[in-house]
Amino acid sequence: QPPQLSTSIPANNLAPAPALPSARFDIQPVNQFRGASASIKRPQEVVHFSYDDDHQYKEDESGINYYCPPQLGADLKAGYNTFRNHEEKTDPHLDSLLRAVMSKEKKTGKKEEADFVTWRGMMTKIMTAPFDMFAEFSMFATLHDGAIYIEEDFPARAAQQIQEAARPPPKWQDPSMPDHKMMTYWGYKFETLSLLSTPPPETPRETIDARPRAPVSNYAQHCSIVRTGFGSQTLLLGGEVDGLSAPKPSSPSEPIPWIELKTAESLPPNPSNRDILKFERKLLKFWAQSFLLGVPKIIIGWRSKMGILTGVQELETNKIPGMVRRGTQCWDGNSCINFAAAFLGWLRSVVKEEGKVYRLKLEKKAGFVEVREVRDAAGGIVSKEFKEWRTE
Ligand code: A3P
Ligand code: MG
Ligand code: MG
Repeated sequence: QPPQLSTSIPANNLAPAPALPSARFDIQPVNQFRGASASIKRPQEVVHFSYDDDHQYKEDESGINYYCPPQLGADLKAGYNTFRNHEEKTDPHLDSLLRAVMSKEKKTGKKEEADFVTWRGMMTKIMTAPFDMFAEFSMFATLHDGAIYIEEDFPARAAQQIQEAARPPPKWQDPSMPDHKMMTYWGYKFETLSLLSTPPPETPRETIDARPRAPVSNYAQHCSIVRTGFGSQTLLLGGEVDGLSAPKPSSPSEPIPWIELKTAESLPPNPSNRDILKFERKLLKFWAQSFLLGVPKIIIGWRSKMGILTGVQELETNKIPGMVRRGTQCWDGNSCINFAAAFLGWLRSVVKEEGKVYRLKLEKKAGFVEVREVRDAAGGIVSKEFKEWRTE
């Protein structure tokens, strides 16, 4: 039987939102969100789409990849100078997600109603915020036709990236050690080593064995858009899925055997408390990201400090919350779910005026999310095309 919402939300969070332009939702203390988790629905795929090798939207399965275990010992740094790294030059908003939803609605003649529509990445940031004191985010939200659309504050992220790129490496950094850009690369390299564009039984051995020499690109993708729920809130979430570990079932009610690939530095033989805590924090991000789209399996590529792939390990997503130690203040999945459910419920009481744009902001160590009406936001959260379709 589905667990029921049993969270006690402190009075200040239940109080009607103060007069705009701003309102706050307390994240801390986290204890307020403990207890059995709010009822959650198993995510069900509504529609999917791909991006091709030029990152062009394609309404098909061309971007689906299939998992086939990688050869161990590979160097994740190899091929770095030929990496095709896709960087968004303009604000992608929710455009491709809405395009896919619109296409589905045209086919079925049924409106895909939901309380919230957003990218999975936004929900990952929200869900994990209670257990990451350094978490920070900035997003925009707007109410349109009864649903709240949330997108990343793209200008803020772009500005942050420019700042980071301009910052010289810290003096203490060992020049022989891989830098941040390289560490970003090897996540994609691990994908190239572990995936095939055709199911393994149909793939020639030579293609499988040639993967360590294959060029790495993150232009192509496959995205799954799911319907899911938190407490009483329903959501349409879109996000990238790395691959399939078995054929996609033909019945839409069956779970899809998606896999999420992740790299992590292997733990030393006798890990210290700090090593374990660091990995447990990573597990929170891994779990939340996959949980939201209903990805049942995560495949960890263990690597050395220098980026040599030393092993792979499969984790079942729903077993991850049980893997972290109890009572170490690390994290607890039920609290994440309860927090997200309470936050979304509250957000509906704040984002009330059609067409207005609100900024959702969490600053490092702030302990609360501030929601403020903004007049300077460029808009464009809900694409023109989608608005026109919905008002037809
Ligand atoms: P790792 O997660 O193994 O480091 P995803 O895991 O979400 O499929 O993303 C694939 C890879 O993209 C990541 O692999 C990482 O290399 C890179 N990446 C994703 N999000 C990132 C971020 N916020 N900052 C830097 N790199 C990121
Ligand atoms: Mg991915
Ligand atoms: Mg991945």
